[in-house]
Amino acid sequence: MGFASWYDAHVVPRFIKCACSSAAIMKLREKVVPLASGDVFEIGCGGGINQQYYDPARITRYAGLDPSAKGLDFARGEAARKGWATDIRQGFGEAIPFEDASFDCVVCTFTLCSVDSQAGTIAELRRILRPGGRLLYAEHGRAPDANVRKWQDRIEPAWKKLAGGCHLTRPVASEIERGGFAVERLGERYSPKTPKFAGWMEWGVAVKAG
Ligand SMILES: C[S@@+](CC[C@H](N)C(=O)[O-])C[C@H]1O[C@@H](n2cnc3c(N)ncnc32)[C@H](O)[C@@H]1O
Repeated sequence: MGFASWYDAHVVPRFIKCACSSAAIMKLREKVVPLASGDVFEIGCGGGINQQYYDPARITRYAGLDPSAKGLDFARGEAARKGWATDIRQGFGEAIPFEDASFDCVVCTFTLCSVDSQAGTIAELRRILRPGGRLLYAEHGRAPDANVRKWQDRIEPAWKKLAGGCHLTRPVASEIERGGFAVERLGERYSPKTPKFAGWMEWGVAVKAG
């Protein structure tokens, strides 16, 4: 295993688990994850940080998917600690191994930044949702201010290498809308105590349209 593969397999999942557990990020999780109900699918479930926010009384089935073996170890460890039944699999958002219209709800936090194809993953999330199903999202992305965008463009190439393929310049809610969802924006802001280039946050509920 070369250095880059070793870094991605072992350092990135730990770095992400730490960076994605800041107080500001945890507050955003708290705003969306407890809204999950019914048959729930979580994309990018690696790390397992969201599991503490699910209310098992509202959830009839929980499935998750992530490509990172180490991230999945963490997620399965969290499931064991929580003591609930899960179906956590290794795979990619661009090819989700579940049937069409098999979930009521998808949870997607800080993952659309990292998938290879944002549009391809959103299309897959739409496919596995039942009619009227909800996509609950909290993501960082393209900032609204020109001076911040300039830095996002400059930093992104190096950032992607350090942070497991994470993009800084991807629009969030508008891309979900383009993917065939009616989006209710619950909030957007720069995260406190975070560099602005990585700190523009958007969260909301998107309903499968059509
Ligand atoms: C910044 S981390 C966020 C993890 C978790 N969703 C959270 O909120 O803490 C990004 C996650 O996306 C996962 N990921 C990267 N590429 C992916 C893909 N193509 N499909 C699904 N997940 C992917 C990574 O393995 C990682 O677990």
